Amino acid sequence: MFKSHILGYPCVIIFNSEEAMFVLNKDQLFKPTFSASKERMLGKQAIFFHQRAYHANLRMLVLRTIMPEAIKDIISEIESIAQSCLKSWEGKYSILNACTSHTRRARKELAQILAQIISTRRNMKQDRNDLLGLFMSEKAGPTDEQIIDNIIGVIFAARDTAATVLTWIVKYLGENPHILEAVTESIIRGKEENGEQIGLNWSDIKNVLMTSRVIQETLRIASILSFTSREAIEDVEIQGYLIPEGWKVLPLFRNIHHRPDNFKEPEKFDPSRFEVPPKPNTFMHLAMGSMDVRWSIIGAKKKNQYDPFALPQNGLPVTLYPKK
Ligand code: HEM
Repeated sequence: MFKSHILGYPCVIIFNSEEAMFVLNKDQLFKPTFSASKERMLGKQAIFFHQRAYHANLRMLVLRTIMPEAIKDIISEIESIAQSCLKSWEGKYSILNACTSHTRRARKELAQILAQIISTRRNMKQDRNDLLGLFMSEKAGPTDEQIIDNIIGVIFAARDTAATVLTWIVKYLGENPHILEAVTESIIRGKEENGEQIGLNWSDIKNVLMTSRVIQETLRIASILSFTSREAIEDVEIQGYLIPEGWKVLPLFRNIHHRPDNFKEPEKFDPSRFEVPPKPNTFMHLAMGSMDVRWSIIGAKKKNQYDPFALPQNGLPVTLYPKK
């Protein structure tokens, strides 16, 4: 733990898992803190800026839509979208990248589109089984303004994070062909043993242990959200140190994930380490998939860029080709 100033604010930086969990779990002592520009971009009713009942209710609704069960009936649809994307990229130089620009105008347009969708669904009495449908079906649930801010918030939380993790997975599997083969084998073997046809189904999603270890190890080693931030609501003492009211506190996930006392040989990509559960509170995590293409990475493999999360340089340009 040490203190510093970041962007003019006094901050306490934490890279010990117990202290990080203390800060994240004590919302009577620490509140979320974000820049004014983030609040303007997402909307002040978005989940990130709130606590207690309003926050808990939104969190429960969002969690319901990202549980694996939520995609049970649309697995083959998701697989076919993924496959058609991969097919359209075959043989081409492609960049997996995320771009954040013209945010204010984009936000306004998104809000208008969402308002239109809400009004159409209401007029047509459409009951849809998605996050918007869930928000709209809540009795005494969020207002339209709150729904819009939170749909934009979830798009923000889900899009770049998921795209960035996928990019890192492609990089690590590309660099570790034996792990890639093991992942592919584990899915195909399971299907052959069950006499099933090629194509993902619900039992694959529940049984892809190897795949989920690869995802966990990627989330750990790439730690795409390196840290989060809170603000002390009052003076708080941790481990004999005083954190004065108003100071920011930054738990550093990346450092916690890269401490050798938490994860042996932390710089090594080794999904097998997740065959046993990590020490409590040392892994701040998330998520699943399959594909039958291979790729080669173009250009320098060692450099990173920040856009806004750490990504392999230029979004990891790759050439895709069908698996032989
Ligand atoms: C796959 C990569 C992802 C990573 C590494 C990730 C990581 C995180 C972390 C560390 C936080 C906590 C921030 C804090 O408490 O200060 C968070 C919050 C959040 N994430 Fe994700 N996330 C990912 C994907 C997603 C997806 C796909 C969704 C879509 C639903 C999502 C929705 C949210 C929401 C709504 C919050 C705010 C939760 C709250 O305030 O209680 N995230 N995420």
